[in-house]
Amino acid sequence: MVDPVVWDIGYLLSAALFIFGIKRLSSPKTAPSGNRLGAYGMMLAVVVTLVRMETDGIIGWELVVGGLALGAVIGAIMATKVQMTGMPEMVALFNGFGGGASALVGLSEVLGRLQSGNVPEAGIGLYGTWIAIGMTALVGWITLTGSLVAMMKLKGGFYIPLTKKDDRGRRKWVNFPTWGPPWLNFVKALLLIGALALVGLTIQEPDNTDWIYGLVAVSCLLGFLFVMPIGGADMPVVVSLLNSLSGIAAAFTGFVIGNNVLIIAGSMVGAAGLVLTFVMCKAMNRTLPAVLFKSFGGGGREKGTRTKIGSDAVEVAMVCDGIAKCIIVPGYGMAVSQAQHAVKEFADLLEAMDVEVKYGIHPVAGRMPGHMNVLLAEANVPYEQLIEMDDINSEMAECDVVLVVGANDTVNPVARSGEGPLGGMPIIDADKARVVVFIKRSLSVGYAGVDNPLFYEDSTMMLFGDGKKMMVELNAAIKDL
Ligand code: TAP
Repeated sequence: MVDPVVWDIGYLLSAALFIFGIKRLSSPKTAPSGNRLGAYGMMLAVVVTLVRMETDGIIGWELVVGGLALGAVIGAIMATKVQMTGMPEMVALFNGFGGGASALVGLSEVLGRLQSGNVPEAGIGLYGTWIAIGMTALVGWITLTGSLVAMMKLKGGFYIPLTKKDDRGRRKWVNFPTWGPPWLNFVKALLLIGALALVGLTIQEPDNTDWIYGLVAVSCLLGFLFVMPIGGADMPVVVSLLNSLSGIAAAFTGFVIGNNVLIIAGSMVGAAGLVLTFVMCKAMNRTLPAVLFKSFGGGGREKGTRTKIGSDAVEVAMVCDGIAKCIIVPGYGMAVSQAQHAVKEFADLLEAMDVEVKYGIHPVAGRMPGHMNVLLAEANVPYEQLIEMDDINSEMAECDVVLVVGANDTVNPVARSGEGPLGGMPIIDADKARVVVFIKRSLSVGYAGVDNPLFYEDSTMMLFGDGKKMMVELNAAIKDL
């Protein structure tokens, strides 16, 4: 038997690699090496666990290799099939799988202990183990079902399997509802109290599996109801909170199976996710309780009734001729159309004409934290040109042209009214510039489902079409000036 201190030293080293890795993630320049350090830390933790498993005979190799192979095949298929625009849903799903995995480990631990009669004597041992198992179940199952709902919401809905296909080969599509009457908060509070009571009952009667399955059911329902009412622009907060919960569930699992690196890594994911949640809350000008209990996102999607005549690329190019400053505001549509390289080319063309070009980045633009930064970095846009919302807003009044590429909610002045799904969310003040040019396919709403009055202003030009196609046309028109 190897001294357990050996394993702990290995785990301590991997925890140190995680910590230095996360530290380096705080700047885009050091982030790639931070990523590598984190990966080395994870590899070390896995190797130590495998050696420990072999030495202490915890589990057979067949299960480990079988699980690794199955997971690797499923992961590889998902990763190669997913579209860039499907990444946010995939991230939500991964959060859910993290929570689900922890919940299953907790469940198998408790059932295994009951089967082998390895239940601690009543007292501190029983309390410690059973509370850890109960909390793993509670947080893990909430994370799983909550993340599945979040994934559906990010996707917008789902196709019903086995329904008749239409002439485009698609089955019947159902929009995923955002539903949350005020009394639902009362139901959620009761369910939470019920779940905690069930954890207590599992301690009082450790042999009674009814309490355990009851806890699984109540936690699953709680996760579902917790995310169901949240929608519109508040989804970023929920996704990062679920990310944090998946870490907390993993940390509880670490206590259940006595694995120190899981406790440390889980706590770090929990803490980092919580920091991100508060950053997102600040970006949305919300408090966490308001997001969780006020259901800002409800109320359905608006349909614009007004019209606006579209401009063409030549007209927009002529407006750009002779200007001094241009601010580009990218949004989800840039990601969908993969227009980032054409956007960079546009910036290069303007800079060659002595125009100052900057990018205004809203913290929740796109569908993932840092979505725009990643895409623009891929197109080699210098990091110094990416300016955060507050700083870029102070430059708007002196800006000649704001080019909004596939953004909508993040520049919607309705947010200033304090009403509706966007109410109170800080925006990029594109409307303060002399001319605003929108590139999008129609006058339709953004993620939060709110009509945008800026489309209809006299100083706004609409360039209707796919983001990349219109950027290519605009670049050609600028070259022809
Ligand atoms: P949105 O408000 O969602 O607007 C995107 C616009 O892109 C749409 O109005 C759409 O208009 C246009 N578009 C779609 N496909 C396009 C294409 N191929 N070419 C050109 N345009 C296209 O985007 P935003 O301003 O980036 O705001 C993000 C929203 O998502 C916020 O409400 C935010 O809260 C929410 N959200 C963010 C996150 C994170 S973490 N960032 C996560 C979940 C939700 P057309 O259909 O007319 O083209």
